[in-house]
Amino acid sequence: MRLENKNAVITGSAGGLGAAVAEKFAQNGANVALWDMNEKGLEEMQTKLQKYGVIAKGYKANVTDFDEVQQIGQQVIQDFGRIDILINCAGGGRDIALGLRDLDKSQWDKLIDLNLTSAFNCTKAVIENMIENHYGKIVNFSSVAGLRGGGLLGKAAYASAKAGIIGLTKAIAKEFAQYGIYANTVAPALHVTPLIEANMNPAEIEELKKNFLLKTAGDPGKLAELVVFLASDDAQFITAALYTVDGGFSFH
Ligand SMILES: NC(=O)c1ccc[n+]([C@@H]2O[C@H](COP(=O)([O-])OP(=O)(O)OC[C@H]3O[C@@H](n4cnc5c(N)ncnc54)[C@H](O)[C@@H]3O)[C@@H](O)[C@H]2O)c1
Repeated sequence: MRLENKNAVITGSAGGLGAAVAEKFAQNGANVALWDMNEKGLEEMQTKLQKYGVIAKGYKANVTDFDEVQQIGQQVIQDFGRIDILINCAGGGRDIALGLRDLDKSQWDKLIDLNLTSAFNCTKAVIENMIENHYGKIVNFSSVAGLRGGGLLGKAAYASAKAGIIGLTKAIAKEFAQYGIYANTVAPALHVTPLIEANMNPAEIEELKKNFLLKTAGDPGKLAELVVFLASDDAQFITAALYTVDGGFSFH
């Protein structure tokens, strides 16, 4: 129970990797504020997590809407008392596979909003509370696309936003270490989630696996174990770090 009695906000937690992280957090004793736009998914996750005996509450939140997110942040502080952990996982988007020539300005803006500005918005919503408490753990989701100018799926805008996440995370670590606040990045590659299934059929996913040293896809539950560790006090000397979870893809 690495996160017993800690209060965590997890964005994008009605599905995909965020949901896997939320479940692992609840298994480790954390109370979870689920932030997502998918109301049905939120309800299902809330019920699922409460079975672990923790407080779990869904909040319909569009992480690209700065004002809405600030209000929901205040609501969570009222409901939970304090926020100890923020996991910025919401991301992806319909047009992530578009290259520069095919992207129009509004598609670019939407992808940057969802994959970079969202982390700014949500961090702003919790940071003052973390400073007050002199305690905070932030884990931001980048992607191998952010390390390699694009991955096997995401291209120009997605790669730019995910590279930005790495810079933002380091800046947060630098600015707020003095207040006991940690910030780290995870950069996954292929984990089969609704994001991947919306862009590829099963045969294409199988083909994609050949690109990895380990010739397989990542298990969301195992990635979630890493996020639990980074959000826990066991990661006592780890901040401003980047963890790739990519079967060796960014290495070779
Ligand atoms: N799955 C992978 O292989 C992979 C690889 C690299 C990076 N990532 C990153 O991991 C994160 C999670 O990816 P995933 O595969 O679980 O994606 P997903 O699309 O399967 O799930 C994303 C979740 O975020 C929610 N969401 C989308 N837009 C939102 C918004 N504006 N406000 C609030 N919630 C919103 C969705 O409703 C959904 O529940 C993303 O940041 C993604 O870029 C994923």
